[in-house]
Amino acid sequence: MVNIMPGDHVTDCHVLVIGSGGAGCRAALEASQYGETVLLSRTLTGKGGCTVMAEGGYNAVLAEEDSTGLHFEDTMRGGAYLNDPELADILVTESPDRFRDLTAWGSVFDVEEDCVPAQRPFGGQRFNRTCYAGDRSGHEMIATLTEQIRNTGIRQMQETSAIDLLMDGRRVAGAVTLDGDGTLGVITADATILATGGGTRCYDISTNCAAGTGDGFALGYRAGATLIDMEMVQFHPTGAVYPPDSRGRLITEAVRGEGGVLKNSLGERFMERYDTERMELSTRDVVSRSIATEILEGRGSEHGGVYLDVTHLPAAEIERRLPIMLEQFLQFGVDIRIQPMEVAPTAHHLMGGLKINPDAATTLPGLYACGEVAGGIHGANRLGGNALADTQVFGKRAGEAAGKAPAITLQVDIDEVLATEAARCDAYCRGTTPPHEITRELKHAMWDNAGIFRTKAGLKEVEATVSRLQNLVPKAADRRMLNECCTVTNMLTVARLIIHGALLREESRGAHVRQDITQDWTPADSPFGHTVQSLFGTAIEERRGAA
Ligand code: FUM
Repeated sequence: MVNIMPGDHVTDCHVLVIGSGGAGCRAALEASQYGETVLLSRTLTGKGGCTVMAEGGYNAVLAEEDSTGLHFEDTMRGGAYLNDPELADILVTESPDRFRDLTAWGSVFDVEEDCVPAQRPFGGQRFNRTCYAGDRSGHEMIATLTEQIRNTGIRQMQETSAIDLLMDGRRVAGAVTLDGDGTLGVITADATILATGGGTRCYDISTNCAAGTGDGFALGYRAGATLIDMEMVQFHPTGAVYPPDSRGRLITEAVRGEGGVLKNSLGERFMERYDTERMELSTRDVVSRSIATEILEGRGSEHGGVYLDVTHLPAAEIERRLPIMLEQFLQFGVDIRIQPMEVAPTAHHLMGGLKINPDAATTLPGLYACGEVAGGIHGANRLGGNALADTQVFGKRAGEAAGKAPAITLQVDIDEVLATEAARCDAYCRGTTPPHEITRELKHAMWDNAGIFRTKAGLKEVEATVSRLQNLVPKAADRRMLNECCTVTNMLTVARLIIHGALLREESRGAHVRQDITQDWTPADSPFGHTVQSLFGTAIEERRGAA
């Protein structure tokens, strides 16, 4: 039995921020200017999200020769024109100021000799606009943001998960929480921000941190929020292929930005066949498909990837600009100064997510979303470097809008809510299947049938697998495993949303490729808009007059 004492464990605040990666920290900093703010982390503040692991950089228009118009066009073209143009415009317009906030707060990004921020080329962009701190850019940002948080009155609740949103009718009024010991709690809030990051852990091979299980997508969906474009899963072209326990780990795009070249087992620089103009710095969807094609057609490397080679670059440059990559590969027994790396695509980012407006407000009153859990900004494919910018731009916007939200008088029976959640936990205690068995099967099925290349038959197959897995009850051997049971339930929900989106979208566009569909339109004049999913129905928007 799960022990709860109704009435206990209730925290009240003005703004609750769920998730403490780059977006959550930025949102909390902003919200705290308006009232009491709680920052809830599944792990430790700043440590669990993907931002702290982010390597490559932050896109910002800083040079006079660059322009936000150019950044906007690159973002829209890269996103196969599925991006919400208003959100994309906000991203590119506000990203420079949010970058300046970080440096004013003490972030140390690399600079040129004249002290202007150094900017490297990243895929799909016509200007070198990716600011960086070596290949540990996200780490630098998180160090700065958490330092700022220490100087505020933000209340940090760590090692505690949100397992459901607290509903007051249709309004979101906080969250139900579960700590590491399996104790339930409630946080009531005038406004709640989901900043829970991504969800590609439902794939066998993923760059995401352990917390990338998509909790926020599932929480929002269960509460009745609308999600868009969930089928748009970015496969980063270059993940590690060995050793086995490092499979999928990010090999930053900065390696290609700094001049790294991709080669197959025949020694061919194969990107010549797929994008003669942009080569290795084509957009991620194109590079991933190209690598996958080389591997599938038998021109892969010894460990089932392709080669990524920087041996032609001066060793000192590699040491200075890619220190983490160098060290990581040395640990695998490979010296990238003299040997090529082996890489293959890895699930990296969900472009879809909760539908938001420019204030980061979702379709549910009282609920805001920022960072990867929000959809629409990046369309069908995100440009490398736009995610870190997104965390700061929309983190600030969400924090400000939530901070300005009016105080609410709660009409919720907290005891009843806790009793319902306790019954859910009790069911897990009596469950049938260890959660890791469910996730193992899910991850393989998603990789095999909802990956880079998709067909209706494959999607139907993985849909059936997910349905079967959803009928199993994950088993918590003791209360400390309750979180894992909640997580696997969320992963199954995210997987279902991805699959349904992929079935709805009968076209190939950006990161989503349907091999069973032939189409005679280009992304720019696709007859389709967003896929839309909520508890109340699913659909794909049709754009009249297009194609
Ligand atoms: O390759 C990278 O460093 C990843 C960057 C990003 O996803 O924005």
